[in-house]
Amino acid sequence: MKFAVFASGNGSNLQAIIDAVKAGNIKAELAMVFSDNRKAFALERAKVAGIPTLCLVRKDYATPQSYDRDIVIHLKDAGIDFIVMAGYMKLLTPFFIKEFPNKIINIHPSLLPSFKGMQGIKDAFTYGAKVTGVTVHFVDDKMDHGPIIAQETVKIEEGETLAGLEEKIHKVEHVIYPKAVALFAEGRLKISGRRVDVK
Ligand code: GRF
Repeated sequence: MKFAVFASGNGSNLQAIIDAVKAGNIKAELAMVFSDNRKAFALERAKVAGIPTLCLVRKDYATPQSYDRDIVIHLKDAGIDFIVMAGYMKLLTPFFIKEFPNKIINIHPSLLPSFKGMQGIKDAFTYGAKVTGVTVHFVDDKMDHGPIIAQETVKIEEGETLAGLEEKIHKVEHVIYPKAVALFAEGRLKISGRRVDVK
């Protein structure tokens, strides 16, 4: 099985996945790192690890559909079987999602369905939540919505700073995401409706 990681920024989750592949904990080939952002540090991490990269910029295309169509062509050419979103900041079009049904997973830094959207950590913090966390889920046509693969809680302690909370969340992400990718790669995730069971 070959997979691609999509990342727009720092790529710390990408790094955790690269390390897990190297350690033999994910039994699939990380065959492409895709970014929509030429300055993404994720691209540097991929180059250091010797992984092929592809960067296509949305503003070079007339519509989100034509952009996604081109990305899909590249993915199919590279023989990509499944896709791991790791801080990819563009919404995928329904066309893209239909091309890879139940073959795209995402990580979100809150306990879904709470605090969807771009600022899951900050939103939970400013809301005054006492507990937040991390969710890994399948991607469907609604944002931060598909069937949940894994969740882990993170406490927001008294006097906690936003920066401190971000660090705690990322630490948890770097543990649970490679594990979820490994389960997917081994074909051990069974979806029935909204439920995902690990076989
Ligand atoms: C992570 O917090 C992830 O949950 C969210 O975007 C962030 C990406 O961080 N979807 P990084 O680029 O992997 O460091």
